[in-house]
Parts: sequence; structure tokens; C-alpha cells
Amino acid sequence: MATLAQTEQDFTRLPDLPAEVFTAPLKKPAHVGDDWLEPKQTDYTAEDDAIWNDLFARQMAVLPGRAATAFMAGLEKLNLDRGGVPEFGTLSEDLDTLTGWSVVPVPMLIPDHVFFWHLANRRFPAGNFIRTRETFHYIQAHDVFHHVFGHVPMLTDPVYADYMQEYGRAGWKAMRYNRLKALGSLYWYTVEFGLLQEADGIRAYGAGILSGPTEVVYATEAESPNRIMLNVDRVMRTDYVISDLQPTYFVIESFEDLYRQTVERDFDKLYRNLGAGFTYANTAVIDVDHVVNRGSLEYTLRGGRESGAKPV
Ligand SMILES: [Fe+2]
Repeated sequence: MATLAQTEQDFTRLPDLPAEVFTAPLKKPAHVGDDWLEPKQTDYTAEDDAIWNDLFARQMAVLPGRAATAFMAGLEKLNLDRGGVPEFGTLSEDLDTLTGWSVVPVPMLIPDHVFFWHLANRRFPAGNFIRTRETFHYIQAHDVFHHVFGHVPMLTDPVYADYMQEYGRAGWKAMRYNRLKALGSLYWYTVEFGLLQEADGIRAYGAGILSGPTEVVYATEAESPNRIMLNVDRVMRTDYVISDLQPTYFVIESFEDLYRQTVERDFDKLYRNLGAGFTYANTAVIDVDHVVNRGSLEYTLRGGRESGAKPV
């Protein structure tokens, strides 16, 4: 039987993982293939398409001047404003021409190793379902709007596209050292909640920020959050909040820098020295930080979302 160690560099097939590193043992849904793909994309109703269009319009009211230039360019390159939930086949053809990526439909939850395997092969796994009117403003589970609107435009940027593939490859190593939590933090603070220093100000490139109406303003303009230049080691030791606005964001100077910091990092050495838990609280500012803005943390200290605090 092949082991993860033997197939480490073979990103074309799913590895057989020893049980001790398989941290998300999900049962495969009956209708899903062995590669954890849905047989096809969902057939969306007219109401589903209307929800997509309304979400799109909501975001376009807040994104210009706050979203990264590469993200706005990606929306245009992929014609994501053509109306209705995009069809993954057409989207994948366009994306393939640009950077060799595709978008594939998957169940809502897939095991970690399958997620990494898709990324390492330049396939972005996207959930099929779309939210309802009842959950229009906030859903914790990520739907097709979050995945396709939030993530896919950035995959038109060649350097970012390479970073995502490297992230998938790094996942295999993290599983072997049982340090998925640390690598998850890097994903969280870059792919989901990353900020970028552009010539005329701070812009957002993280999908978690760009697919919602509140955090894009808060992350780029509010006084509460810390904004700290990204250091991969530091980020991987930092805790994060799942269900509220972040107390701290990490800023990259360019996608080239993000890519370089990731591929040049000796993850073996890092994982051997990392504890199982996080070292830094998500509110912490530490000696080695290059701080862009030190936040007031007012929103967080007032109790965040639960308390009804204003995201200022
Ligand atoms: Fe996401």
C-alpha cells in the first residue's frame, strides 16, 4: 500500500493516508465520487440566480477602492457579472486559459487531504449550494457565492494562483507533522482575510472579507483592528476568530512576497519546533511585528458581534 511519505511529490493521485494523520474522517456521501466530486453542479432555480445577482450588487456597492486591484480585474476577466450563478464549466475554461486552474463542485465538507489534493492540482473545490433569503446577510457555512465570487477572481492572478497550489502541497507535509492548525492559520490570514498594501492604500484580497458587506469596510478602514505586515512564522503561531470580525489582519506587500515567503520556508523545521497549540492571541502585537496600524480593539473589547458592538 502506498503511504503519504512515498507519494509526497505525486500530486496527481489521492494518497492512502495512515489513520493517525487523517484528521477529518468524514463519511463519503453516497452520490459523491471517490475523488469527492459531486457528479455535476446543482441546477439552480430562478430565485437562486436572483439571490446571486443581489449578493453581487451588494458587494459591488462596497468593493471599489477597497478590494485589491487584482480581484477587481479578476471579476472582469471572468465576466462574473453576466447574471445568475456562474456555470463551473465555462468558468473553468476561462480560468484554464488564464492560469490553468479549474473550479470543481464538491460536497459542503470534504476531508483535509482531498482539499489539499485539489489545490495541489490547481482545482478549486467549490460548494454547490447557495444561501436563502433568510440567511442572505450572514451564513457561517460557505456557499457558492463565497467560493466563486470571493475566491475565484484571485485565481486569475498568476502569482496568487501559484501560491494556492503551493498551499495545497504544504498541506500534505502539515498532515504528516500533525500541524494542520498552524497551516490553517496561514490560510485564514491570507486566503480568507488577507490585506495587501497597494500604492494608494490598504486593499483586501481575502475571500472572507470580499464576500461580505461589513468586513470589507472594517478590515480596510476601521480603527479597531491591528494591521501587521505578514510574517509566515508569526502568523502560523497566531489564533483566529471564526465567527466574528478579526481583531488583527496581516498585510502583504505583494503576491510575489507571499509566494516567496511560503515556498522558501522550511516547513519541516518550522513544524518540528511548533507546539500543538497557538502561541499568540489574535489580539496580540509582539516585539518582532512590523505594525502598519495599531488598532484600538474597541469593537473586540466591547464584545464583538454578540454584544451588538459597532464595527468601528
Ligand atoms: Fe473560503
